[in-house]
Amino acid sequence: MLSRVSDDSLWIFGYGSLVWRPAFPHRRRAPASISGYVRRFWQGSTDHRGVPGRPGRVVTLLPADHHSVRAETGDGGAPGAIPSAEADGWPGDPTCPGTAYEVGPEDSAQVLRSLDHRERAGYERIELDLEIRSESGGSEIRRGLVYIAGPRNESYLGPAPLAEIALQIASAVGPSGANPEYVFELARSLREMGAHDPHVFAVEAAVARASRRASQGASQSERSRR
Ligand code: SIN
Repeated sequence: MLSRVSDDSLWIFGYGSLVWRPAFPHRRRAPASISGYVRRFWQGSTDHRGVPGRPGRVVTLLPADHHSVRAETGDGGAPGAIPSAEADGWPGDPTCPGTAYEVGPEDSAQVLRSLDHRERAGYERIELDLEIRSESGGSEIRRGLVYIAGPRNESYLGPAPLAEIALQIASAVGPSGANPEYVFELARSLREMGAHDPHVFAVEAAVARASRRASQGASQSERSRR
C-alpha cells in the first residue's frame, strides 16, 4: 500500500556513494526510489575519485526526458551505443533505486553541513518525492533531499561511449580512493537490495574488463623487463 506522509523528519536519498558509505548519523535506512530520473556516470570527480586534470567519473541523476538521455541508444551513454533510456523503463515509468535515510532533528543541521561539503563539486540539493519501502512490504511517499549535479556545473562530463567511460574510471584515483571501487561498491549494494540498473551494471562489467586488461598489460611489461 502507498501512503503519503509528511512530518518533521529529514529524509535524504542516496543513489551513489551515499548508498554504501553514508558516513552520517541516521535513525533508519530503507530501500527507496525516485520517479522520473535516471542515474548516469556522467559527472566528473576531481575531489573524491580523481584529481584535477585526471578526473574520475561518478554518478549524477538526469531527468529521464532530458535530451541527452533521450539521445541514448545504448553503450553507456553515447548516441549509437545499451543501456538506453528505454532499458531503464522510459518512456513508461523511469525510476532510480537507492537508499533513503531518516535523520533526527538533533543531527540534521550538522548532517546537511557535512553533505554540502562532501558534495560541493557540482552537486546541488533538490527536494523530491521519495518512495520508501517499509519492512511490511508496503511503501510510503516522503519529501526528501537529493544531491544532483546538473549538466551546467563545471565538473560535468556528460555521455561517452561505454569503453571510454570504463577506461577513464579504471585509471582514475583520488583522495577518497580508486574510482573502480566506487563503481563496484555501488553495483554490489544495488544487487544486495534487489535493485536493477542496467547503466550501472554495464559500467561495472566494462570497468572490470578494462582493469583486467590493464593488469595483464602491466605484468607482461614487467616480465619483458626481466
Ligand atoms: C549520492 O550518492 O546520492 C550523490 C552522489 C555521490 O556522492 O556519489
